[in-house]
Amino acid sequence: MIFDTHAHYDDEAFDEDRDSLLASLPGAGIGHVVNVAASMDSCHTTWELIHRYDFMYGALGVHPSETAGLTEADMEFIKAHASDDKVVAIGEIGLDYYWPEPEKEIQKKWFVRQLALAKEVKLPVIIHSRDASKDTLDILQREYAGQGEGIIHCYSYSKETAKDYLDMGFYFGIGGVITFANAKKLKEAVEMIPLSSIVLETDCPYLSPVPNRGKRNSSLHLPYVVSALAELKGVSEEEVIGTTEENAKKIYGLPL
Ligand code: NI
Repeated sequence: MIFDTHAHYDDEAFDEDRDSLLASLPGAGIGHVVNVAASMDSCHTTWELIHRYDFMYGALGVHPSETAGLTEADMEFIKAHASDDKVVAIGEIGLDYYWPEPEKEIQKKWFVRQLALAKEVKLPVIIHSRDASKDTLDILQREYAGQGEGIIHCYSYSKETAKDYLDMGFYFGIGGVITFANAKKLKEAVEMIPLSSIVLETDCPYLSPVPNRGKRNSSLHLPYVVSALAELKGVSEEEVIGTTEENAKKIYGLPL
């Protein structure tokens, strides 16, 4: 079944119909969903959500754009909750230079701090990196190489950079962008990346695939991503679903 490795079902975009939508997922071929926190608030809402639905798991962490007010007490909160069976990763963490705030030094400080936290609690990381290719790679190679696993979420860099992440053993989160007509660079990278290093993700409510581009995304739209990947890799849709599910279970430490 389809494994959605990156969703934000605690987002207000789902306030109207969250429960009916989530209840419909297992019957629609969605086997597992990992809800990914992006702020301290969403660490709390993620925690609540993953204990309500059997098929949901969670990642706890703080997105680079939300790091300005972080404290060591916040790190303690995440650490205290990370040993729960339903918490499978630290994320999403990383660097986002698209937005001017918070300043780069603050983002870097909390990226490094959360990488250390992930090593301490022995969980993989989910990396958010936008317009920050070199700094992300430098920090990961310095602070994390050989020490753990992770997913580069919504991969957006070149084929060449993808090789560096592959060498470090990272997985690549592929979602709706792969269906966009203008995603030439991503398609080139995905042609090179082996299916054994790819996982499916929505990043919902964002990044809905064609033909729903611009509308609210959900795990129900992942079959469009599956078929785009099958075409690019020259394999069946069943193989895409099966291999990416196995990859996701491996990285998140769930029974195969
Ligand atoms: Ni996300």
